[in-house]
Amino acid sequence: MRIIKKISEMQDLSRQARLARKRIGVVPTMGFLHAGHTSLIDRARTEADLLIVTLFVNPTQFAPHEDLDTYPRDFEQDCKLCEDHGVDVLFAPPAEEMYHPDHSVWVNEEKLSGKLCGASRPAFFRGVCTVVSKLFNITLPDFAVFGQKDAQQALIIKRMVRDLNFPVEIITAPLIREEGGLAMSSRNRYLSREERLNALSISQALKQVENHIVEFHINNKQKIMESISKHITNAGGIVDYVSIYDAETLDDISEKSSKILIACAATFGKARLIDNVVLDLDADK
Ligand code: PAJ
Repeated sequence: MRIIKKISEMQDLSRQARLARKRIGVVPTMGFLHAGHTSLIDRARTEADLLIVTLFVNPTQFAPHEDLDTYPRDFEQDCKLCEDHGVDVLFAPPAEEMYHPDHSVWVNEEKLSGKLCGASRPAFFRGVCTVVSKLFNITLPDFAVFGQKDAQQALIIKRMVRDLNFPVEIITAPLIREEGGLAMSSRNRYLSREERLNALSISQALKQVENHIVEFHINNKQKIMESISKHITNAGGIVDYVSIYDAETLDDISEKSSKILIACAATFGKARLIDNVVLDLDADK
C-alpha cells in the first residue's frame, strides 16, 4: 500500500489511473478506523481497480468548542487495517497541505443542512461539503462510498454531487453496530464502561420502533419521538434531537413517504453519538 501525503502526488497518480481506464473508488474518513469504516472499504474493493482511502481530520467541520484537538488518532493501526483490507493508496495529507492559510472558498448545501445535526452544528456540513469536494478533486474517483451511520451526510453529499455535477457515483453502505447494538463510531472511544452501557439506550429505543413498524403511522410521529427521547434521557443521555423525516428527501413525512428516517443525537459523558434507523413501509406491506 502506498501512503501519499502530497496533493500533487495523489492527483498525478489518479490522473494516470484514469488514463489507464482504471475505475477509482474512494472512501473518505477521519481515521481511527473501525469495522464501520472497513465495511465501506470492503464494499469499495469489490468495484475499484484503484482503491483510495483518505484519512484527514478535517478542522473546518469542527466548531471551536468541539473535539478537534482530542479527536482519536492512531495512524499506525489505520495503516495496518487499510493494508489488511486491500487498500491501494492511503491519502493522508497534513492540515497545511489541505488548507491554504488564505483559504476562502466554501461549498455550502442550503436545504438539507439546516436540520438534524446541522441545527446544533451550523458550520458542520459546510466543512464536510468543502473537504469532500476537495478530496474528489484530488483523488478523481469514479465512485465514493459513505456510511448510512451518517445518513444526513450521505444525503447531502449526494445532493452536492447532483447539483454541482461532480462525475462521481455516491454509494451508501449499511450502518455497522457493535454486538450490543451501539452504532460503531470513532467517538465511542470517549465512553467509560458505564456510559457505554447507558448509550445502548439509543439503539434499543430505535430498535423498539423498528420492531413495531406495522404500527407506524404518521399521526404517531410525536409520540414515537417522545418515547425515544425519554428512553435515552432515563439512561442518563442528553438528547440533542430525535427527528423523523422522509428518508430520501429529509422533508416532513407525509402519507406518500415510503422510507422513514428516524434519527437521533445524544451526548453521554464526552461523546456526542448519532444513530438512525430507516423504516421501509412499502417492504412491510
Ligand atoms: P468518519 O466519521 O471517519 O466516517 C467516515 C465514513 O465512515 C463515513 O461515510 C461514515 O458514515 C462511515 N461510518 C462511520 N461509522 C460507521 C458505521 N458504524 N457504519 C457504517 N459506516 C460508518 O464522516 C466523516 O468521517 C467525515 O465527515 C468525512 C466524510 C470523512 C469528511 O471529513
